[in-house]
Amino acid sequence: MTNCAIHPSILSADFARLAQELERISSADAVHVDVMDNHFVPNLTLGLPVVEAIMKATSLPLDIHLMIEDPDRWAPAYADLGADSVTFHAEAAKAPVRLARELRAHGTKSAMALKPATPLEPYLDMLPELDMLLLMTVEPGFGGQPFLDLVIPKIERARKAIDGSGATITLQVDGGITTETIKRAAAAGADNFVAGSSVYGAADAAEAISALRNNAQR
Ligand code: DX5
Ligand code: ZN
Repeated sequence: MTNCAIHPSILSADFARLAQELERISSADAVHVDVMDNHFVPNLTLGLPVVEAIMKATSLPLDIHLMIEDPDRWAPAYADLGADSVTFHAEAAKAPVRLARELRAHGTKSAMALKPATPLEPYLDMLPELDMLLLMTVEPGFGGQPFLDLVIPKIERARKAIDGSGATITLQVDGGITTETIKRAAAAGADNFVAGSSVYGAADAAEAISALRNNAQR
């Protein structure tokens, strides 16, 4: 048995009832918050004031996924709110090493995300700057898309690189995670799973979280 974590994404929650929707996932390891700016991705969600409100409404750690342009400018403010981790996209960051260091200096875990077609290899040397690597298993922007199996070899390569680095780095996957796809992602080496529609679309979210956890054992 390996340690795994389930981070439900509130993107699939009812935004008019956020406090109750956070209650539904109290058995999760953290809440995944998708920040979209309508530029980096073709969708617009929420920003700092709503994240601040979410922080007050839950005792769960906050995992902030920034799908925005210019994370170099905006990401540290999410750290200052008290987020447990802040993830920026490699494709959007102007200076990813500087930003990763800045996030740690602002007291949060530094995390970087790669879209499905972004290669891992150019970023391997900066793994020690990261507490978490997020490999997107859908094109970012929307919940409810099917899991992209083409990312599996990249998950396997990332697992090898992380193990070889000797550093403690969480390997997160995000997009299309269900009780079926989570088995393949876990077998490939992921240990942290974001799930939106499969948790919030379930009648019993706690049951969905525990089913995902059971199926994520490698
Ligand atoms: C997609 C977001 C995901 C999304 C996942 O761009 O980053 O976090 O909420 O939703 P599902 O699990 O439905 O694919
Ligand atoms: Zn996300």
